[in-house]
Amino acid sequence: MVSSSSCRRGLLLAAVLLGFLQASSTFEVRDKTGKICILANFSAEFTVDYSTKAKVERKTFQLPSSAHINKESSSCGKEKETSQVLVVEFGTGNSLTFTFEKSNDFYHVSNLTFSYNLSDSSFFPNSSGGQREVSRAGDIQANINTTYRCRSNHRVNMTNVTVLFSNVTLEAYLPNNAFSKNDSVCAEDKTSTVAPPITTHIPTTTSLAPPTPPPTDTPKIGRYNVTGLHGICLLATMGLQVNVTYSTKNKTSKSELLNLPPTAEVSGTCENSSITLNLTSESTSLSFQFSQNTSTEKYFLQGIIVTANLPPEATEKNISYSNHTLNALKTSVGKSYKCIAEESIWISGKAAVNIFNIQLQAFKIPGDKFGAVEECQLDENNMLIPIIVGAALAGLVLIVLIAYLIGRKRSHAGYQTI
Ligand SMILES: *[C@@H]1O[C@H](CO)[C@@H](O)[C@H](O)[C@H]1NC(C)=O
Ligand SMILES: *[C@@H]1O[C@H](CO)[C@@H](O)[C@H](O)[C@H]1NC(C)=O
Ligand SMILES: *[C@@H]1O[C@H](CO)[C@@H](O)[C@H](O)[C@H]1NC(C)=O
Ligand SMILES: *[C@@H]1O[C@H](CO)[C@@H](O)[C@H](O)[C@H]1NC(C)=O
Ligand SMILES: *[C@@H]1O[C@H](CO)[C@@H](O)[C@H](O)[C@H]1NC(C)=O
Ligand SMILES: *[C@@H]1O[C@H](CO)[C@@H](O)[C@H](O)[C@H]1NC(C)=O
Ligand SMILES: *[C@@H]1O[C@H](CO)[C@@H](O)[C@H](O)[C@H]1NC(C)=O
Ligand SMILES: *[C@@H]1O[C@H](CO)[C@@H](O)[C@H](O)[C@H]1NC(C)=O
Ligand SMILES: *[C@@H]1O[C@H](CO)[C@@H](O)[C@H](O)[C@H]1NC(C)=O
Ligand SMILES: *[C@@H]1O[C@H](CO)[C@@H](O)[C@H](O)[C@H]1NC(C)=O
Ligand SMILES: *[C@@H]1O[C@H](CO)[C@@H](O)[C@H](O)[C@H]1NC(C)=O
Ligand SMILES: *[C@@H]1O[C@H](CO)[C@@H](O)[C@H](O)[C@H]1NC(C)=O
Repeated sequence: MVSSSSCRRGLLLAAVLLGFLQASSTFEVRDKTGKICILANFSAEFTVDYSTKAKVERKTFQLPSSAHINKESSSCGKEKETSQVLVVEFGTGNSLTFTFEKSNDFYHVSNLTFSYNLSDSSFFPNSSGGQREVSRAGDIQANINTTYRCRSNHRVNMTNVTVLFSNVTLEAYLPNNAFSKNDSVCAEDKTSTVAPPITTHIPTTTSLAPPTPPPTDTPKIGRYNVTGLHGICLLATMGLQVNVTYSTKNKTSKSELLNLPPTAEVSGTCENSSITLNLTSESTSLSFQFSQNTSTEKYFLQGIIVTANLPPEATEKNISYSNHTLNALKTSVGKSYKCIAEESIWISGKAAVNIFNIQLQAFKIPGDKFGAVEECQLDENNMLIPIIVGAALAGLVLIVLIAYLIGRKRSHAGYQTI
């Protein structure tokens, strides 16, 4: 007979082994001749929002140790194609696809796609089912003939899905069937591993170098309006920040936050179905285009053009990104959009506009002032917390009061018997 403790020990051993297997499993993609072109190992944590009959559920799970490579879909680059593809599968019908592309001297993940099967109840219990696919232009980048390493957490946000990578070691366009000896370490790791020696080392002349600039604080709130033939067609107060990701001269990728000063020059146009708001500062300009949907009586932010000068370490002097298929800040005509929480609007994989403390109204603006407010989802969610805390506190007060009353009654009775 097997005792329950030895059984437990067995399970523990299995768990440890499984953990060990997970930590050391490396995915490899080979071409027809057996030559390896991609090697990768990493941890990934998925957070997925999906609907059940009752509500929207949020599920977080790790890439399981049973995850394996899909040999048919992975590729070292078919005829004439230079892209290489790594497809990692798990469960039934869930997969993570990395598409790599290379230029003269670096390679990068040009597209990260997560395809998931909501009918796979082991990951998505009680889901109403269906196959979903989300993707992002990736930002992992490294020199050719070097191994990309990133121990720090690297978050990739997609619609309804967040993938949190960590302990990433990968290389595509492998020259010699194995990881290259030289590394491209991600910027996140550099800041966390370079920092300690500075504090422990005896100060040298290099410590006189200017300190790294402090993290950019939130932008100041600006007040903007656009006036047309028929008066004001756009009124806004908001703080604006551009988050741009660029490659540096040493081939690593870096993000910079550029605040738009509230003194930015304002221009724009008012048309029946379209409004533009241009804000121009010395180093950054933003052009917003709002549209109106007459059938639903809603207006929304449809397009953004961002242009910005980059720091000298960037490979390019300036950038210009645009997206004309947005559907943001959607509001009923005649009302104003309000959001205290920070909102990020992604323009491309390389640029986002962060909006702070916005109130905005476009098209119909009776009396040239903000109409009734439509609160953003983020603020509505935040409002829930104080309500819940308040309710809990009220409950607690009630319990204490009842306990006090009961206690008083008891002690009263006690005195009487003496
Ligand atoms: C990935 O593989 C490399 C090289 O074999 C190894 O050094 C590293 O520990 C592995 N990492 C994980 C998370 O398995
Ligand atoms: C995101 O989730 C919501 C709620 O489950 C669903 O209605 C929507 O279609 C999903 N979007 C995508 C792109 O999967
Ligand atoms: C999705 O999961 C269901 C239930 O496990 C399975 O029957 C179906 O074949 C899966 N779909 C795909 C595309 O694998
Ligand atoms: C990524 O690739 C998928 C599949 O080819 C495609 O549908 C999707 O639009 C691409 N996403 C991006 C951000 O390029
Ligand atoms: C990468 O290594 C291969 C083989 O060692 C070499 O042929 C190639 O020129 C190298 N590429 C770069 C960009 O250094
Ligand atoms: C992803 O979303 C989280 C929470 O919503 C946020 O804190 C984080 O900054 C986002 N990351 C990116 C790369 O947008
Ligand atoms: C990453 O690797 C370190 C060291 O091997 C380990 O302590 C840590 O738990 C790993 N993180 C994840 C998320 O796997
Ligand atoms: C519109 O902007 C102009 C110039 O900044 C300012 O003088 C005017 O008061 C603004 N109008 C409103 C209604 O805010
Ligand atoms: C800026 O963008 C980078 C890269 O997408 C992201 O990691 C970072 O969290 C963003 N920062 C802010 C404050 O939005
Ligand atoms: C790029 O190189 C410069 C000088 O060579 C160095 O100071 C800097 O830390 C490097 N940046 C990154 C992100 O590696
Ligand atoms: C606004 O900026 C866009 C893009 O830079 C430009 O095409 C347009 O002419 C500008 N409009 C006004 C009114 O300044
Ligand atoms: C523009 O934004 C939409 C909505 O966020 C996104 O689906 C689309 O991929 C973006 N287009 C480009 C070119 O990045």
